[in-house]
Amino acid sequence: MISKTMEEALNRQVNREFFSEYLYLSMAAYLETISLRGFAKWMRVQAREERSHALKIFEYIVARGGKVTLGAIEAPKAKWTSAGKVFEEVYAHEQKVSGMINAIVDLAIKEKDHATFEMLQWFVKEQVEEEEQALEVLNQVRIVGDIIGHLFYIDHYLGKRE
Ligand code: FEO
Repeated sequence: MISKTMEEALNRQVNREFFSEYLYLSMAAYLETISLRGFAKWMRVQAREERSHALKIFEYIVARGGKVTLGAIEAPKAKWTSAGKVFEEVYAHEQKVSGMINAIVDLAIKEKDHATFEMLQWFVKEQVEEEEQALEVLNQVRIVGDIIGHLFYIDHYLGKRE
């Protein structure tokens, strides 16, 4: 069993993971408009990962005898001014998500909920990877700036993400 407080916290996180999927799809749509198809592909793969995060928590709530409650997903922003701005936001967003996961870990510790604590360790590790990946692309884009030829080189490389 999980407590009502934990059930609410996990349901909120399901919603936030779906929002992340939505946000990254919105970023993919923007990147398509500026012909950075590789960046857009990277973002679609990222969106798919966010969906898998949401479903992982969904399944955990069910497994623990809790009730999944799906709320409305906030509409994401739709416009940016450059690929660099997009990745600044991805990095900031992932740091925010890490904070959300840590807050649920804190709750699990407070409630002595060992099962949820254990489940969340996967997310703690995943967030290290998510932040690292976002920062890696952000740093590459920062280095090349607005030099379109170099940006297309990164675009080609990012398009290989599966
Ligand atoms: Fe589900 Fe990118 O954190």
